[in-house]
Amino acid sequence: MKKKVLLMGASGSGKTSMRSLIFSNNPASLTARLGATIDVEQNHVRFLGDLILNLWDLGGQDSFMDSYLTTQRATIFQHVGVMIYVFDVETREMAKDLEYFRDCMTGLKQYSPEAAVFLLVHKMDLVREPRQPTFLKKKQELEEVSGDTQVNVFGTSIYDESLYKAWSNIVHTLIPNAAILSKHLTTFAGACNATEVILFERTTFLVIATSSSPSSPSASPSEETSECEPLDPKRYERTSELIKSFKHSCSRVREEFRALEMELYDFTAVLDEMTRNTYVMVIVHDPTIEAAAVKLNIRLARKKFE
Ligand code: GTP
Repeated sequence: MKKKVLLMGASGSGKTSMRSLIFSNNPASLTARLGATIDVEQNHVRFLGDLILNLWDLGGQDSFMDSYLTTQRATIFQHVGVMIYVFDVETREMAKDLEYFRDCMTGLKQYSPEAAVFLLVHKMDLVREPRQPTFLKKKQELEEVSGDTQVNVFGTSIYDESLYKAWSNIVHTLIPNAAILSKHLTTFAGACNATEVILFERTTFLVIATSSSPSSPSASPSEETSECEPLDPKRYERTSELIKSFKHSCSRVREEFRALEMELYDFTAVLDEMTRNTYVMVIVHDPTIEAAAVKLNIRLARKKFE
């Protein structure tokens, strides 16, 4: 199963940088060396067994944009699963960006009316704190331009976890059986007496599915820990970011990342291979459950998830 993903936006807005961070295990510091993308760079990324992402990184220089919107219009905009449009938050050419964006939306509506649209207000790290008002203003502006087309707007930066949050949401819309996976993870969490179970894609470490919210009775923490702090809403994307940089450090010392185990005083976390394309993270707050038992459970559950 192949899904076409368009990555569009003005030249220098950061498209190739985010692609290199998410799909090739590169650190943010290396993105300054990337040259401008000439025309279209197509990549096939195997994502979860059968799902192949056909990623079109479209160079954003005006001459290329003009050609996508005229002679190449049908080729670009047909059979699209998701269009991601990147806006540099600090751009001085917002009016021009919006004009191209409007034209792309018309092309998309014409050839792929069912496609999901994600708008990234990118390079948020360049905005002085507090960043939220700037983001909300941009978001409103983009929603107004999008008219009645439903769009998902995220603030992103390659220097923090926000990029992982946006991209996890993007790939989530492309995974056909995400709801079933969540259900299986909830059952698995119950079997391990885990607070939460999270499934990551192997190369990108994007979150694919999680067990249902920890407030549900099957996965509630044990009584001793019921007064523990509420879980951090950024925990998924923070984990993706941390593991990605840890993997990068491993590769620098020519070691391969395989698994991770942490036993702290109030919780245990085990991260291990689940299937050929996924890793699972199990978080347990029950002090009587040993990491080895969790690992055994993961091993036993593998067949079910393959
Ligand atoms: P074209 O290929 O010409 O369409 O450009 P592009 O959109 O692919 O831009 P590219 O990824 O090459 O990034 C341009 C510059 O922006 C690089 O120097 C990156 O390091 C920088 N950049 C990318 N993302 C961020 C970000 O989140 N924050 C900051 N501060 N800089 C970024």
